[in-house]
Amino acid sequence: MLCPVVVGRDAELAALRTALGEAEYGRGSVVVLAGPPGMGKSRLLGEVLDDARGHADLVGAGRSLRSASATAFRPLAEALLQAVRSRDSAPGEGQARSQSVWRAVLPFGEEGGSIVGFSAGGLELARGETVLRLLRTVAVEAPLVVGLDDLQWVDPDTLGVLEYLADNLRGERVLCIATVRSEPRSAAYERLRALGSRRSAAVFRLAPLKPSEVTEMVRACWPAIGAAELDRVLAAADGVPFLVEELLAAPDIPETFATSVAVRLAGLEGMERRVVEAAAVLGRHFAWELLSDVTGAGPEVIASALEHAVDELLLTHKGGVYLFRHALTREAVLDQVLPHTRASLARRALAAVEAAHPGLPGVWRGVAADLAQQAGQLDVAAQLLIDAGRESLRAGALATAVISLMRASTFAVDPLVRCAAQELLVQTLALSGRADECLALGAQLLASPSLSPSAGSAVHLWLAQAAVEATWWAEAGHHLTAAEHLLAFDPDPTLTTRRGVLAAETALAVGELDEARRLADGVIGSADTIPEVRCHAFVVLGRAERVSSLDRAKMAFERSRVCADAHGLPLWRLRALHELGTIDLLIMPGPAGWKRPARRRRTWGFSAWSLSWTFNCRRPACSGSSRTPGSAARPPRWPPPIGYASPS
Ligand SMILES: Nc1ncnc2c1ncn2[C@@H]1O[C@H](COP(=O)(O)OP(=O)(O)OP(=O)(O)O)[C@@H](O)[C@H]1O
Ligand SMILES: [Mg+2]
Repeated sequence: MLCPVVVGRDAELAALRTALGEAEYGRGSVVVLAGPPGMGKSRLLGEVLDDARGHADLVGAGRSLRSASATAFRPLAEALLQAVRSRDSAPGEGQARSQSVWRAVLPFGEEGGSIVGFSAGGLELARGETVLRLLRTVAVEAPLVVGLDDLQWVDPDTLGVLEYLADNLRGERVLCIATVRSEPRSAAYERLRALGSRRSAAVFRLAPLKPSEVTEMVRACWPAIGAAELDRVLAAADGVPFLVEELLAAPDIPETFATSVAVRLAGLEGMERRVVEAAAVLGRHFAWELLSDVTGAGPEVIASALEHAVDELLLTHKGGVYLFRHALTREAVLDQVLPHTRASLARRALAAVEAAHPGLPGVWRGVAADLAQQAGQLDVAAQLLIDAGRESLRAGALATAVISLMRASTFAVDPLVRCAAQELLVQTLALSGRADECLALGAQLLASPSLSPSAGSAVHLWLAQAAVEATWWAEAGHHLTAAEHLLAFDPDPTLTTRRGVLAAETALAVGELDEARRLADGVIGSADTIPEVRCHAFVVLGRAERVSSLDRAKMAFERSRVCADAHGLPLWRLRALHELGTIDLLIMPGPAGWKRPARRRRTWGFSAWSLSWTFNCRRPACSGSSRTPGSAARPPRWPPPIGYASPS
């Protein structure tokens, strides 16, 4: 009962084909197909991708999975890997290219580098630009079409890249088509819709098919259908193509989709039905190999259950993998499972997944968290999400990490698990430059009786860092003092040096250059200083020296760069290069017609004009600066986003 032809959608298909033609001539774009579930977004996307393949264009397709929303960059990496695979012919090329994809998507995480001290905005720009360049190198001989399906479940970091592409594909031979459900509302849908509002992308909303189109579709599926049955489909399907097919799939055409699924499920023999229910618990895309462990059924029963479910249009298979024909089909099957059965199947499925995939690599952690939640093991789910958050943080996928950790903190029942989630969340928010949220959560966490004193000093230091990034110096000073008191009771040399470098930052901000130098020197000289803090201290030292000696400042920034190189800290390397760039700018003559103003003694050590045409500048320090949370006019951050040209 799958419709053999695409019915209607002429305007959308014409627009997509025009966009494809434009991309061929180097005028790439992003097109978004939005609409309620089952309205035909994926079908339309598939149609255009087939068209592109027919014209020997390069194609890469990826999709997000609900269970993998805690995994950063999954759909993007999938699509890019497919795109480079479709281009490679020479043996051995593939592996090198796959590595370049990983470097594009995870430019910092793979090398184990630290993202501490790097602005979140800079990270996003760097990643967007790297992906753009990768797409450009792939689309040399033929235009490239990238399809990203089901973005309602996408991680926010992939969306960040997509937004960058929407603003920058205009000169490329790349067409990117994204699909997203408009209902229920999701953050992803809102962000993609906003791309349309600001004309960065073309957004098409798929409307229900007209009655004449539904009739055409029904006749294409079932040419001999009687008038009464046709009327029944017209009334029940509401113009949704998915429902048209589903209603036609059940005998006697039931009144609703849920009944249609229930009828087909009831047609399966007892154990076969249990196998399909277990598959639904595992997810829309499920590993059929696990079904035997989850249900205790033998291989013959599993095989016949899968065959019957495919016959009944409950399941389908693609590329050797079984999946529910539609996300809605899986949900309708789950609705038929009694709660205690679902919890027990989820428990067994969780054990099976953990046994089959030790360490839960890739998407398996998300799958396991979903199963733990269905099994009612909320602390286990929270712990898995904390691990997922930590992994995203390591990969520099800050927004994805925030979402995983927020979910973890909501799920956690045990106060210690909740505390662990929130500690990591405070750190992630600080690194993301989300100072308001960071300080609000930090205040709540510091009041928690489950927080140990050593964790308390670490939290104060992250809050101080968030405040420093936001140039809320009074707030930063308050948290540094609090951390100092806690460290006096429960000394931790590593935290002490972190405190030292942040204190040096605040001293620099209020113009106490000697104090800033003294503190930075102390951090650099300490044997307990970890490399990223040492890099930071060299940068602060350089900024303090820049007022009086460009040579000494240059030397400090150079040492920061060497330290970053020696310890594989690419983000600190970039930051050092930016600072070295400021020295170059100061040495360089100004633009023609400019007269360099007399250098005044300022805490930031150089005059604004020399940088303003290249970088955003940090607000000059002022001793009275205090926190104004939520204030609209937030000063720009330093260092400038790395998307801005670095003179180095
Ligand atoms: N215009 C159409 N003509 C014929 N069949 C269609 C059309 N649109 C969709 N279909 C069929 O309807 C079913 C559901 O469509 P599709 O999977 O594309 O929906 P979707 O909008 O992607 O749903 P979801 O949001 O749940 O992913 C598919 O089997 C598809 O082949
Ligand atoms: Mg779809």
